[in-house]
Amino acid sequence: MPFLQTTNRPDEWKIEQGLSGAALPVLDMTGPETKALAPQTFGPLTKDVKAIKAVGDRNTLFTRERKGWTGFVEWENYPDKKEAAHKILKSQTFPPNPEFQLGPIPASNPVLPGTHWKMWHHAIGGELTQVPEDSWETVLKEKHPDMLHLLQFPYNGEPPKRLVTSKVVTPNSLHFVRNHGGIPIINKEDYSFSLDGLVANPRSFTLDEIMDESRFPRVDKTVTMQCSGTRRIEQILSYPGQGDEVPQAPWAEGAIGTARYVGISLKKVIKACGGLVDGAKHLEFYGADTYFKDDKTMNYLVSVPWSKVKANEVLLAWEMNGEPLPRIHGFPLRVVVLGYIGARSVKWLYRIKAIMEPSRAPVQSQEYLYFPQQVGKHNLKFTDGIQIQEMPVSSAIMSPWTKQVVIHNGKIRCKGWAYSGGGRWPERVELSSDGGFNWYTVPVENLSEKRRWTWRTWHFDLPCDVEGWVEIVCRCWDNSLNTQPPDVRTAWNWGLHVTSSCHRITVYSVNKTRPATKARMDEFEKARVPFGPITVPIAFPPQTPEDYEKFWSQHDPRDAEE
Ligand code: MTE
Repeated sequence: MPFLQTTNRPDEWKIEQGLSGAALPVLDMTGPETKALAPQTFGPLTKDVKAIKAVGDRNTLFTRERKGWTGFVEWENYPDKKEAAHKILKSQTFPPNPEFQLGPIPASNPVLPGTHWKMWHHAIGGELTQVPEDSWETVLKEKHPDMLHLLQFPYNGEPPKRLVTSKVVTPNSLHFVRNHGGIPIINKEDYSFSLDGLVANPRSFTLDEIMDESRFPRVDKTVTMQCSGTRRIEQILSYPGQGDEVPQAPWAEGAIGTARYVGISLKKVIKACGGLVDGAKHLEFYGADTYFKDDKTMNYLVSVPWSKVKANEVLLAWEMNGEPLPRIHGFPLRVVVLGYIGARSVKWLYRIKAIMEPSRAPVQSQEYLYFPQQVGKHNLKFTDGIQIQEMPVSSAIMSPWTKQVVIHNGKIRCKGWAYSGGGRWPERVELSSDGGFNWYTVPVENLSEKRRWTWRTWHFDLPCDVEGWVEIVCRCWDNSLNTQPPDVRTAWNWGLHVTSSCHRITVYSVNKTRPATKARMDEFEKARVPFGPITVPIAFPPQTPEDYEKFWSQHDPRDAEE
């Protein structure tokens, strides 16, 4: 079968072994003969310069919307502007996403560059021209130098494992960032947002008005924000899914962070507008960044139900951990929705609209969907997916790391986090060193404070008697006694969201309470030879010839007699 026209390709065995899945042809077995269908390829980039010119002057079409709002183009009220942008984007092609799920993930930081997203911004031009470069500058200014930049633009980054739970409240510079577009740079003095749609008295508010304590009581809340993509890498490594680059940044366990936000309850602001009218049931939030989807431009829009707002669980926040919101986290004002996925906590808020149905904008209606396992590229409809709001209970081990060799005295030092959405909290954290057969409970004193809207960090010396490869598993029970599915396979879904399965890592256990192991480790020390990696042969004979002979002189020979 001519599946691959190869002649001694050096990477053939990798392809055969599933290590270069993207190169595999699709097998069509619907006919009498199996046919090999070539994967999609992309031709050279094209650009219809005349058609683009005919759209008009990009600097005028996509000019600065408001004084003091750098990088903001308002799309939602201007169908003509959207149409012009669509024509420009349709008149040229852009490079595809690099394949990083069925192929290797680049060993670089930034991991993925987001080249086509940068090119889309440059293609629109006008106010968006400088946005990719300005955004990266903001990243370098505001984020910790050790951040893992999963996607350079739009910026998606998380702290490395060793820093995820180093503090119960995440320092701002280490809080993960999930952006769908650039970072608008907004002057505080020029800032206002509007509240309109189905409210009695639509109006706009400046920051000073919002901060006026005589009108709006201040709320101070410590909140864990979690992206529904947290721990996606476990799904990618076993069962790749939707290959779109921005929703599918290869997040590890750090797309979760906890901060103290100061702001006000949105409910009070709606009240100040005379309340909802005409059957309004949802609040739609508009972010000032530009999002691209299907050759179309738009702002970042999502909604939450009024019931959530009514319960005072939706804040408008301007302060994060005692500082003004960093630009990258939504300066000057963002939404913080307690207990929902991060996607609903809109940054760079410029408008709130009261509406009857949940937002039909793509981020709400086409993304952040939890599909059943039988649904994928071959058959999916958006309505097959549950719109993700509250995150289920989950947890993760931050130390040790998978494939790590651990030398210990019968206990493996572990640490990590546990979280549950919807206002539930981790009530019990359990660890297993035998793949999830026996579980040890982390003593409550090893868990950080119990709070309604936050994670709990934990640490535990996990008993481990056995040696060799062991699977350490972590799971959490929340206060409603929800717990985590056992394996990533049970969590897998086409959108690669909500990896809430038990977190599993494999480490190589070297237990020094065993006399033979202690003796061998002493030999390594004496010989001044590093023990790792375990795959390298022992640098000295593991047994003397005398000892070997002594054994056989005292035991039965290898083969049994008749
Ligand atoms: N708001 C706007 N305007 N644009 C965005 O891309 N991303 C959302 C949300 N708010 C986003 C946004 C997503 S998906 C998440 S997980 C959170 O912001 C992340 O918040 P953080 O970047 O402050 O950690």
